Amino acid sequence: MNFAELAALAGGHAEARAIQTALKLGIFELLGDQPRDAYALARSLGADTRATALLANAMAALGLLAIDQGSYCLTETSRRFLLRTSAEYLGGMILFDEAIFPYWAKLEDAIRTGRPARSPDMFQSDPEDTERFIRAMDSLTRARGDAVWVSEHLDLGGIDSIADLGGGPGTYLAAILRRWPSMRGAVWDLPATLKVARRILEEREPDLASRIELVEADYAKESLPGPVGALFMSNILHSEDESDNAALITKCFRALEPGGLIVIKDHVMNRDLTEPRAGALFSLYLLLMTRGRDYSFDEICGWLAAAGFVDINLKTLPSPPYTSSLVIAHKQ
Ligand SMILES: C[S@@+](CC[C@H](N)C(=O)[O-])C[C@H]1O[C@@H](n2cnc3c(N)ncnc32)[C@H](O)[C@@H]1O
Repeated sequence: MNFAELAALAGGHAEARAIQTALKLGIFELLGDQPRDAYALARSLGADTRATALLANAMAALGLLAIDQGSYCLTETSRRFLLRTSAEYLGGMILFDEAIFPYWAKLEDAIRTGRPARSPDMFQSDPEDTERFIRAMDSLTRARGDAVWVSEHLDLGGIDSIADLGGGPGTYLAAILRRWPSMRGAVWDLPATLKVARRILEEREPDLASRIELVEADYAKESLPGPVGALFMSNILHSEDESDNAALITKCFRALEPGGLIVIKDHVMNRDLTEPRAGALFSLYLLLMTRGRDYSFDEICGWLAAAGFVDINLKTLPSPPYTSSLVIAHKQ
């Protein structure tokens, strides 16, 4: 690694904070219909003109705004990923990162104590937090395209029912049901999450309503509903510790029909827990917010085999843009 690469990594918070702030202030939305100069932009934001110009210049330096005859306008990238009306809007994830930024200041404490920086409540305690968290999952999945990739590359032929465990906004389930028109599906999740999921699905997928059931389930405290032909779980294992994951996979085994399929999507790490790089860094976020971390293929295989699953396979999504893999196994 050379100096420039190291310096860019070590100072990456500056770019992140600048983008988060510009988005939160609404700069991209304001420029969505017409270019504005710094004065007009600041006036619409109710902000300081000189400071607004500095932020807008930083966005131009990063390629998220362009300057035309003294006025700022959107670039192809910001129009595609930073406008709320875009199908690839990443803003939900960026606003979530903005909201949790203060917890990163507690990383040193978390490393010293081994304890999370906040109570690991999966953002269920405050409706505003739940909404932001679940919209973030939806936004990241849609902007990057994970749900469409999964629906196109997962062979679910012959399966008539699927549950998306901890399915959050239902983004994966909706894409899977579109690909497999005779399948029925359910999101099994906590009550506060399901309230947000219901709103998102009503807004965006009204034609799927008759095929999607939203089922309250707490996988930590209860056995799972079922039986179902397939169980999909994305970004679930990484929030839990080793013994809870072993117990959860056993519950999944019981919730499946004979011959059923389990599909786990997550950062699936190498034995050293250093690759994929995104997963190694994400484990620090998980340390701050949850009881979990990203796990290796061997660890996940161990839980699956102990529960009775067979034919365990790994399918890695192409990187970039994806950073995760599927672990697929069967109940005999
Ligand atoms: C990181 S999000 C993943 C959402 C979605 N599967 C995805 O990959 O975009 C974790 C999800 O698990 C749900 N969850 C967390 N703890 C749970 C529990 N004990 N029982 C059921 N769902 C839970 C959360 O509400 C949230 O929807």
